[in-house]
Amino acid sequence: MEYALVLIKPDGIIKNLIGPIFTKFSQTNLKIFACRMVATNFELARKHYQHIKDQPFYQQVIDYLLGKYHGQNKVLVIIYGGSNAVRKCRVVAGATNPEEADPNSIRGAFGRITQQGVYENIIHVSSDAKEAKREIKLWFFPDQIEERIFPVKTVKSQNGFKAVWK
Ligand code: PPS
Repeated sequence: MEYALVLIKPDGIIKNLIGPIFTKFSQTNLKIFACRMVATNFELARKHYQHIKDQPFYQQVIDYLLGKYHGQNKVLVIIYGGSNAVRKCRVVAGATNPEEADPNSIRGAFGRITQQGVYENIIHVSSDAKEAKREIKLWFFPDQIEERIFPVKTVKSQNGFKAVWK
């Protein structure tokens, strides 16, 4: 079993692409383990893109995820699971650069590069299984996922006990 995190970015939400995107991912026959709408914030964006913090396009990528180009900061975050989940999701997503992506892929069909050079590529997909695990633990608490896909531990909370990632 392998997991992949898919994130529909603010433009995907505002352009009403949730339906077409789910339809394309249904071709993979992967199972959805969790799905939630999240209002992004700087801390989430910074941690999500920590591996590209030295890239010249870093600030644009952060601003894009924070919804600064589309006037809203909601994203839909989905966990797909199954054999070769990352590879299957990345095929459906298409190349990172929307102008190089297969026209039948999500980024090829719906993405664009702005005049300022920002890749508005509609979705993020984990780059590999290790990165998927890190991203899933960033965007989801254990109890927001229908199965215990990674080990958890129980800690005291205000209202009793809660599960946190180990
Ligand atoms: S990937 O898919 O993680 O292997 O892609 P990578 O090339 O490492 O890029 C990491 C994220 O940076 C975004 N990116 C860019 N944004 C704006 N302008 C330019 N030139 C650019 N190049 C890369 C890219 O879309 C990746 O973000 P996600 O959210 O994964 O698409």
